[in-house]
Amino acid sequence: MLKGKRVVLGVCGGIAAYKTPHLVRLLKKAEAEVRVALTEAGGRFVSELSLATVSGEPVLRSMFPATNTPGVDFTGHISLGEWADALVVAPATANTMAKLAAGLCDDMLTACFITLRPNRPVLIFPAMDGQMFLSASVQRNVATLAAHGCHVFTPESGELASGLCGLGRMAEPEEIATELERTLDSISNDSPLSGLRIVVTAGPTRERIDGVRFISNYSSGKMGFAIARAAAERGATVTLISGPVHLGTPPGVERIDVESASEMNETAERVFSETNIFIGAAAVADYRPAEPVDGKVKKGASQMEIRLVQNPDILGGFGAQKSPGQLAIGFALEEADGIEHAHAKLEAKNLDLIAFNTFNGTDSGFEVDTNILTLIIRGGETVTLTKLTKEKAAGELLNAVERLVVAKEMQP
Ligand code: CTP
Repeated sequence: MLKGKRVVLGVCGGIAAYKTPHLVRLLKKAEAEVRVALTEAGGRFVSELSLATVSGEPVLRSMFPATNTPGVDFTGHISLGEWADALVVAPATANTMAKLAAGLCDDMLTACFITLRPNRPVLIFPAMDGQMFLSASVQRNVATLAAHGCHVFTPESGELASGLCGLGRMAEPEEIATELERTLDSISNDSPLSGLRIVVTAGPTRERIDGVRFISNYSSGKMGFAIARAAAERGATVTLISGPVHLGTPPGVERIDVESASEMNETAERVFSETNIFIGAAAVADYRPAEPVDGKVKKGASQMEIRLVQNPDILGGFGAQKSPGQLAIGFALEEADGIEHAHAKLEAKNLDLIAFNTFNGTDSGFEVDTNILTLIIRGGETVTLTKLTKEKAAGELLNAVERLVVAKEMQP
């Protein structure tokens, strides 16, 4: 899988940098092309000469070329990101992760990150003292990078340079090479989804009561965003219709922000006819206040009533009008014993696949980073998945969708 792949290895200033010449050798052995972007601090821990020798390429450091060198590439800070099929940052320090999260760009590594083409994976392997890694600021940057679609790996536990034992070690070079291979494998262009138009709804909706209040739910949008990202990585043309969430747009995805179920429905209906696969991952409010008030409702009587009217069923609408060449995929959030309801929803909304999940607040459902899905496929198998990160669950869901696409012989 790594054969012929163009990999930029970003090396930052941590003691684990001494392992990076070995990592370069592993990647080269797998027949990848490797260029190393070494930060100023990284150069204090590992020699430029070692990395240049094993990679067979000059090591890239400053964005500013020596202007008096013949044949100098004055736009090298852009071309590296255009060249790369993948960026691996190992070891990643707190400092460089902060720069990447903030969009700062002052060396070849940060420039490569910013100019990387859409859908090119970024794998970040932090290595630092465990307390540093767990600090609020580093965790915030980790979350930001993950929301931007980077794969950020939690450091391993073991002996640290400080003499302490605990969280903070960089993953071993063999493991980094395997993770890179796995990631590139999962986004290979051979996916049957490549070229198909996929629409994903995500997040909650807000239903206005008055100018300052609304009815909503706890959906974070993480599951829908993970699906949109994974679908784009597999070469699909993805439109993500999102309710109000705090997530970055996945690379290569067209995002349309909406607020209410009615707005989400109008936006979705506009693209129904040109959609190959519609995936309803949004937690759409089933009802909205019948008469939202323009200003602010004042406190008055000890009780008040808000009359609610039903919202349009967006996924159901797609299911009702879809042609045999289109797929409708939905979610059913139910009580733990609610699998029969999920089967009923598959029928009622004319879906091809429904992902049944429950909500226990710790490892499945809204706001958490993991999900436990059971994939019910029309007229076919039921796939019971274990507890997975939402990214991995999205990958499994799309694997099942790919099987449906192949069975229906769907073409872009
Ligand atoms: N959905 C939708 N539009 C709605 C309600 C739900 O598109 N107005 C989609 C969701 O994105 C999800 C699926 O339908 O993929 C199931 O949603 P759910 O709320 O569980 O189904 P309901 O039909 O609303 O049933 P209930 O709330 O009674 O469980």
